[in-house]
Amino acid sequence: MNAALMERPQSILPQIQFGRVFFPLLPYDVVVFDLDGTLTDSQLGIYRCARYALEKMGFPVPDDAVLRKFMGPPLAESYMKYCGMTEAEAVRGTDLYRERYIPIGWKENNVFPLIRPLLKALRDQGAYLAVATGKPQKTSEDILRYFGLLPYLDAVAGPDDSDMHADKGDLIRRVLPKGYRRAVMVGDTAGDVKGAQDCGIDSIGALYGYGENADLLAARPTHTAEDTQALCALLCPDMPPRKGCFITLEGVDGCGKSTQASALQQRLEQFGYPVRRTREPGGCLIAEEIRKIVLAKEDGGMCPETEALLFAAARAQHVKEVILPAVARGEVVLCDRFVDSSLVYQGMARGLDAEWVKEINRAAYREGAPDATLYLRMSHVDAMARRLAASDPDRIEKAGDSFHARTEAAYEQLMRENPDRFIAVNAAQAPEQVTEEAFGRLFARMVERGVL
Ligand code: TYD
Repeated sequence: MNAALMERPQSILPQIQFGRVFFPLLPYDVVVFDLDGTLTDSQLGIYRCARYALEKMGFPVPDDAVLRKFMGPPLAESYMKYCGMTEAEAVRGTDLYRERYIPIGWKENNVFPLIRPLLKALRDQGAYLAVATGKPQKTSEDILRYFGLLPYLDAVAGPDDSDMHADKGDLIRRVLPKGYRRAVMVGDTAGDVKGAQDCGIDSIGALYGYGENADLLAARPTHTAEDTQALCALLCPDMPPRKGCFITLEGVDGCGKSTQASALQQRLEQFGYPVRRTREPGGCLIAEEIRKIVLAKEDGGMCPETEALLFAAARAQHVKEVILPAVARGEVVLCDRFVDSSLVYQGMARGLDAEWVKEINRAAYREGAPDATLYLRMSHVDAMARRLAASDPDRIEKAGDSFHARTEAAYEQLMRENPDRFIAVNAAQAPEQVTEEAFGRLFARMVERGVL
């Protein structure tokens, strides 16, 4: 067992500290994190911006092993050291880097897995949390805000534009609160460890970050963490298991659900969530077989009851085999269509009794209700024109204009009946705008409900 765990205080009586209830079972009451390579994986944005500048200046782009060395030290220094630039060229290279970094590059970042639930659990147990980073203060705050991490933090310290060579120890001192008992700095470089030693506090070397591990270990951190799972075990031994959630996407044929589902998956993964993307009808072997029958291109004269039962049969398998287990593992399940599609298409549009449709979909109603449904709202006429431009329609898409008009009206009715679950987004906007709005609203709603 590691030292921090062995020394855990035995008292479990909560105390008031830093103006809130603190549970003394946490090994540290103050945790200061480095940002890049510790909370977030910013490699992609940094590589792309460095490449952008090099290409614009006509310099050969070094391979990824060399670009990795750009993580951490000042950029101009790396341009001179690894790309043979003069000082003036390195200044120009830095300006060009910013030309891409400021509008786009800073968002090309991923929150490491488990970081969000770790911050939440520490905060819920009363710890004081801060960031001390070599990245400029304003950019750091923008990144933390964008990725929804800022609300968990009590303080952020980074250099301002005039003091780009700020000392890590000074940055850590700026965020340490008065009256702390056990503080720790978590970082992926030797500089983080030395900064902690300078302030007389413990340190955890994040071996999963970008820092050279040999240097990091040579600085003798108090503990090391191979990955974020190990970090959680060190900082929050009683961390509750990660919660999963179930999100469905709905809308008339051609409203752009598949495009949005992949964009949302990417966004959720960047935010550090494990995502299980799936679809209906389908999502597992048996349900995909049923899909072939129910969405055949030729009309075999299938009656509405058979159609409804086939969708329900595929769903029962999908709920039990895929959706429930993934939610139980703590994943975010993102499902393209679900039981609302049956209510809309088989119930309201084909005219089957809604109660019967609900009855045959018990598996979905009993255990598999979605936490949120993103409704991509669009006129069925525009959506069908878009759909037909893409590929041949299936049996249901060929059902005719009045059928699709009924699906649109039915979605509008379901939206009005389920205001707590539905999030309606105008899907006629440009796809990037739809994603922006859909993700923003979904994330806010899920956080507010404590689901994400
Ligand atoms: P799909 O090719 O997945 O289309 P889309 O991209 O629009 O989702 O086909 C799914 C079709 O099946 C779609 O026309 C809606 C229909 N459907 C139902 O009628 N009932 C249901 O329960 C489900 C899940 C889908």
